[in-house]
Amino acid sequence: MAKLTVSDLDVKDKKVLIRVDFNVPVKDGVVGDDNRIVAALPTIKYVIENGGKAILFSHLGRVKTEEDKEKLTMRPVAQKLSDLLEKPVTFVPVTRGAQLEEAIANMKDGDVLLFENTRFEDLDGKKESGNDPELGKYWASLGDMFVNDAFGTAHRSHASNVGISEAMKAEGKPAAAGFLLEKEIKFLGDAVDAPVRPFVAVLGGSKVSSKIGVINHLLSKADKVIIGGGMTYTFYKAKGIAVGSSLVEDDKVELAKELMEKAGDKLVLPIDNVVADKFANDANYKTVEGDIPDGYMALDVGEKSIELFKENLKDAKTVVWNGPMGVFEMPNFAKGTLELGKFIGSLEDATTIVGGGDSVAAAKQLGIADKFSHVSTGGGSSLEYLEGKTLPAVAAVSDK
Ligand code: 3PG
Repeated sequence: MAKLTVSDLDVKDKKVLIRVDFNVPVKDGVVGDDNRIVAALPTIKYVIENGGKAILFSHLGRVKTEEDKEKLTMRPVAQKLSDLLEKPVTFVPVTRGAQLEEAIANMKDGDVLLFENTRFEDLDGKKESGNDPELGKYWASLGDMFVNDAFGTAHRSHASNVGISEAMKAEGKPAAAGFLLEKEIKFLGDAVDAPVRPFVAVLGGSKVSSKIGVINHLLSKADKVIIGGGMTYTFYKAKGIAVGSSLVEDDKVELAKELMEKAGDKLVLPIDNVVADKFANDANYKTVEGDIPDGYMALDVGEKSIELFKENLKDAKTVVWNGPMGVFEMPNFAKGTLELGKFIGSLEDATTIVGGGDSVAAAKQLGIADKFSHVSTGGGSSLEYLEGKTLPAVAAVSDK
């Protein structure tokens, strides 16, 4: 990417503002999955090991009321970060003002500071989420250079990523990409725009409506697009296959027809399904080919579909997987997602990427995440990237 990156910066003695995506699950004051924090460590370490002062900030959840502030404080995240870095992290419980400015002024080279949830600024007129220019300017005034390492937030145009970048650039200061942002764009960008072929996309998830953009874009890029998960049955309805009580978006049936016409034999749909008499793990279930009987809903793809998908994947050199093949949260309906995930992960000569919140959660829950070449930290951002959209926070980074 022809963008300025953190390795182009001389960070010694500098106050380096780093936007990270530490929007991680926190329960009872304890961080759950710390993948996003771990993924940001290379940039943080680079800055402190090269004599810079790392001033970190992130949003956490969506702050709508004063009460939200208590459960959405970054304090537990600072603790987690300190454990991972094995060094103290100064937590500053405000997003602006004298306390923050003094804490920054007291930093020594190699120190790390994390200030409070940027979305606390949303309580007073959506200043963060509305990209209030004064707020972006204020945060920019706190440092000498800005590094954006928050890929997970790159589809948002907020004060803490886009606003601050614009303000830095206006003052002739650098706004660079961090190592994580660079890596995400490299993996996803190469896969979509310069893939080693065959390039196979595996798309799942419950709704066609949330994946239209991705299906459309990848149909023009990939050699095969495998469809699974709940959205399959909107395609079934469009083909005239009975769907029983499976999830169907009736208003997307016409669109599914158009997508199938556009795709020709590029689109691979399941040929059999595991169907259940209720949406529960203890439902009665069986595998059927073709028509889904009345009173049954499809909750996973069947064995023959898994074989068909494997056949289409076995020679792939690039695979992007986004969205589960079934209701993987229920053990009886997790097999399609597990088998396919394992198979993709076992493709030794292929670059394999899993992206999107649900499929990454599935890969982790099923213990197969470490089998992939790249596990994206982006949910909405990786989806929008796969749709071919420009991510505003990436566009806002300085050119090299
Ligand atoms: C995410 O988790 O997808 C990002 O951190 C963005 O969060 P948001 O959807 O609340 O903007």
